[in-house]
Amino acid sequence: MTTRRDFFKKGILAGAGIVILSKSFGSENNPIDFAETLTPAADGDFTLPPLPYAYDALEPFIDKQTMEIHHTKHHQAYVDKLNKALADAKITGVSLDDLCKNVSKYSTAIKNNAGGHYNHSLFWKLMKPNGGSVLSPTVPNSPSGKLGDAINSTYTSFDNFKIKFSETAMKVFGSGWAWLVINHDGKPEIGSSPNQDNPIMDTSELKGTPVLALDIWEHAYYLKYQNKRADYIANWWNIVNWAEAGKHFEGK
Ligand SMILES: [Fe+2]
Repeated sequence: MTTRRDFFKKGILAGAGIVILSKSFGSENNPIDFAETLTPAADGDFTLPPLPYAYDALEPFIDKQTMEIHHTKHHQAYVDKLNKALADAKITGVSLDDLCKNVSKYSTAIKNNAGGHYNHSLFWKLMKPNGGSVLSPTVPNSPSGKLGDAINSTYTSFDNFKIKFSETAMKVFGSGWAWLVINHDGKPEIGSSPNQDNPIMDTSELKGTPVLALDIWEHAYYLKYQNKRADYIANWWNIVNWAEAGKHFEGK
């Protein structure tokens, strides 16, 4: 299985937010192709990637207001603070994945905000509209292909995997993320990270290639779910983008 792959495409923003892709970075251990520019733009700044769907597209599982604030306020703030922290440190031309992979060399501000930019960019891509509703049967949403086989093989069943992943997400103390990664043995592994840390950071206890990412910060669910984190997690399964996760797993 290939786990070494291009991660971010180098590009520029042109006109009204149109992303033009050019050559890809070829560094090793780039785990995920976001198919959008996350490297510094021509002016040296990172930019907020657009959502791949409308703000209300994940209703009723994640509400429009939460998505809009989460993307335009929280994620934008990570991008802005990352750009400021890099400018203050006079650092230019380093890709986001390289910042994360070598994060022990950088300041706390760069670590927190590079992680915030990376994690949220991944999070948006790993969700999709379900088309169902809480009042009617939802479209079955489960992994297939090699990822589905690996989950069944490692966790005996998809339902058992969901229980274990959800338990891990529930146990995150304070703010953080729950992950499914491909570990260095090429096996699926469930884990979590505090704050905006992620499994590609050289400081992370959990290490591997991200396949699934779930934001456990209260800003991800509090407006709709208040303190009911379990309900947010349970509903999130309806909108996991398994096709995208499968690409990450297969290194495509
Ligand atoms: Fe978040």
